[in-house]
Amino acid sequence: KAFAVIMAGGVGSRFWPKSRARKPKQFLNILSSKSLIEQTIERINPLIPEENILIVSNKNQTAELVQVLPKFPIQNIILEPLSKNTAPCIGLASLFIKRHQPDAVMVVLPSDHLITDVEKFLNTLKIGIESAYETMGLITIGIQPTYPSTGYGYIQFIEDDESEMSKKGVYKVKTFAEKPDLETAQKFLDSGDFLWNSGMFIWRVDVILDEIKTHLPDIYEELMKIDEAIGRDDFKTVLEQSYGKMRAISIDYGVMEKTDRAYVIKASFGWSDVGSWEEVYNLAPKDKDGNYIASNSENVILIDVKNCLVEGNRTLIAMIGVEDLIVVSTEDAILICKRDRAQDVRNVVNFLKRKN
Ligand code: GDD
Ligand code: MG
Repeated sequence: KAFAVIMAGGVGSRFWPKSRARKPKQFLNILSSKSLIEQTIERINPLIPEENILIVSNKNQTAELVQVLPKFPIQNIILEPLSKNTAPCIGLASLFIKRHQPDAVMVVLPSDHLITDVEKFLNTLKIGIESAYETMGLITIGIQPTYPSTGYGYIQFIEDDESEMSKKGVYKVKTFAEKPDLETAQKFLDSGDFLWNSGMFIWRVDVILDEIKTHLPDIYEELMKIDEAIGRDDFKTVLEQSYGKMRAISIDYGVMEKTDRAYVIKASFGWSDVGSWEEVYNLAPKDKDGNYIASNSENVILIDVKNCLVEGNRTLIAMIGVEDLIVVSTEDAILICKRDRAQDVRNVVNFLKRKN
């Protein structure tokens, strides 16, 4: 019996003005009528029943969560008092799962990705779950890279080692490098034997706790204090105290770069972590002029406009004779951005943060 842990505490800033501090990417309906987090749950549901799905999110996203997932069992939502990145988040979820079953396999999933070909996706997870149980390894899912991204982890694996595992398409990892600089990323890409880390992980709960103990002993110590307090009246106080003490670190830097127990399965499904408006544009179905109107098209007038992404709202938007733009209008803000500058949207958020 496997469990799923959906990590939903991240704060996106590249989808401003649609995403806000309390409404990060996972709550947006990107290329779908459903939010990314709803899609994540529905996708995994055929394999893992809802009672075995845990969502780990941040206290200040509670309202948004309840609104988007009104039927999700509330006892399966774990709320963190502070954002400490993914290592503490995964550690915390492990404590709850091990109470059900100390050697249970957990599938750790980001809440804000787009995946196509769900059947292949679920098949990959099935292989991953079996291998995680048998090998006691840390199973990652690798994506064929297409450009030298500096925002992903890179995985180099050992191809033909004649083992039973590699016959199933589960390869031993040689190197895991999180978010390399551009030069290194280019080298990895050119070498041809690196994959991107998809950010999904499959492992046994006893195994990951052991790895956290080895590579992040300070975090493990706090986790054990939290563990003892589960079910006690002072649980919330202990959780807050321990979270206050823990450093913020991702599982990628904290464990994956250091472990020698990692494996990778090559993904055969379509995957995107939709990191920017530009990526949404690229994935979107476009009209004959190359335009994509994301919503409220009745409020959008385009005259001689090409290759633009336009997201309308209540205000009428009229565009004439422009190309390659991203225009997003919300209740209280408008973004106008060259498509090739979509990465810089986060600078607006930084600017606003400094101002306030
Ligand atoms: N509960 C909780 N608490 N969730 C968090 C926290 C936290 O403090 N921080 C991040 N998350 C959630 C995010 O909402 C997201 O769903 C997931 O954890 C991953 O966090 P990101 O911040 O989006 O990570 P990343 O994209 O920079 O890097 C990871 O994903 C890449 C693929 O998209 C790494 O695993 C990379 O190696 C990988 O390539
Ligand atoms: Mg991400």
